[in-house]
Amino acid sequence: MVSLSDLRRFKADGRKFSCLTCYDASMAKAMEIAEVDSILIGDSLGMSIQGRDSTLPVTVADMAYHTAAVRRGNQHAFIMTDLPFMSYATLNDALQSSKTVMQAGAQMVKMEGGAWLAETVQVLTRNGIPVCVHLGLTPQSVHVFGGYKLQARTRAAADQLIADCKAVVEAGAALLLLECVPAQLGQEITELFPQIPVIGIGAGAATDGQVLVVQDMLGLTFGHTAKFVRNFMQEQSGATAILDAFKAYHAAVLDGSFPAPAQTFQVEL
Ligand code: KIV
Repeated sequence: MVSLSDLRRFKADGRKFSCLTCYDASMAKAMEIAEVDSILIGDSLGMSIQGRDSTLPVTVADMAYHTAAVRRGNQHAFIMTDLPFMSYATLNDALQSSKTVMQAGAQMVKMEGGAWLAETVQVLTRNGIPVCVHLGLTPQSVHVFGGYKLQARTRAAADQLIADCKAVVEAGAALLLLECVPAQLGQEITELFPQIPVIGIGAGAATDGQVLVVQDMLGLTFGHTAKFVRNFMQEQSGATAILDAFKAYHAAVLDGSFPAPAQTFQVEL
């Protein structure tokens, strides 16, 4: 089973790693066969599984249910689970929510935010819970942002995001996830922390790992699709098409062909 030490070793060796969101045992098994390195049980399940219009209604019980299903289906990938909206607003909430998803099978919890999470990161880490901090476009704050938009477009905003990363890394964050930021910033943050693996989604090609929402990369998201998405099903056919799409994604992340320039945000900072 892939561990946090393996992800750190991949970074040290310059070996990229793949990550996909997953919410059920059969997809998880296909990802195991395709040797996808890590899985995120994302609160995006609010939209992709529950049909809601944001991640806000998702509960800790939902996250634990899907985490347990994924863990039963996959004995290979490193598993991270999102703490949903308002489930880590206090230290006690964060501890209780993390306990629930870790006992369901997660190896790490993910929280959205910045420097203000430092104490929470420190307390969880001290309690044996590795933490990933998700920065940039953080969907739980969609109503603050006023939509799903590219973040950190100016040098000042990029420097603020770097300061947030430093604060949570100093507090003990073991992984960073950057969403929807200029490729240059993705590269700067990845190089700034040699010990901390950085996963990107719309953060350019330089991050150590890449993640996509599984429905997006299988072409099952109807309507608007984000610029950073590539449909890996388009090139597949036949009974093993889904499995082959996962294999193609894993290979493209490892050989650096995903994301291509068409899937990255080029902004001079
Ligand atoms: O919930 C989720 O799927 C996520 C990804 C978009 C990174 O946080």
